[in-house]
Amino acid sequence: MKGMVFTEFIDMVEARYSPELMDEVIEAAAPPNGGAYTAVGQYDHHELVKMVVELSARTGKTVPELVRTFGEYLFGRFHQGYGHLFSGMNDSFHMLSSIESIIHPEVRKLYPDARPPRFDIGGDGINTLEMTYRSDRHFGDLAEGLITACIAHFNENIGIRREDISDAPGSVIRFTLTRGTA
Ligand code: HEM
Repeated sequence: MKGMVFTEFIDMVEARYSPELMDEVIEAAAPPNGGAYTAVGQYDHHELVKMVVELSARTGKTVPELVRTFGEYLFGRFHQGYGHLFSGMNDSFHMLSSIESIIHPEVRKLYPDARPPRFDIGGDGINTLEMTYRSDRHFGDLAEGLITACIAHFNENIGIRREDISDAPGSVIRFTLTRGTA
């Protein structure tokens, strides 16, 4: 997974908890590079999962909770760092239905070695939006955090229903977003 995801995670933990706690987490998770991630590097996503597990053990927050919170944080950072991808997006359905057709393809142009997840989009696009997430990384919680933050960004009242529809738990998740149900 792209290093920028790791560097953002480390920044979030340092800011929300402390640099000392982040050091402890890195020491316990013992990634091969000792925690020296660079934004453009490429790393095994299991290293991120290990760090989240260690953070969970030290904060009492569950792993899914921490990954969702990280997704929300990441959305804010994407907004700051890649504002051009947000321009012209007038609501969350517009933005979320563009992930597959515009946003992640732009990410691949910036980082040719990036491997973003796949989203299949359905629903009427007016009252409901269906987003089917597929990834062997099982980061549905990250997707949920990003989606929640996107809805909050546009200040909309939209409820999210989540169903695991895979044989291998976590690899295919359907999010159904419905207006007026938050
Ligand atoms: C709200 C909309 C978005 C959603 C729901 C979303 C979802 C995700 C998820 C779940 C992943 C984790 C990888 C996986 O599960 O396999 C991911 C990866 C990534 N996303 Fe997005 N994303 C969104 C918007 C963005 C934006 C605006 C950017 C702008 C830079 C971006 C850049 C990336 C990058 C760089 C990766 C890492 C890819 C890799 O490691 O190879 N995403 N995205």
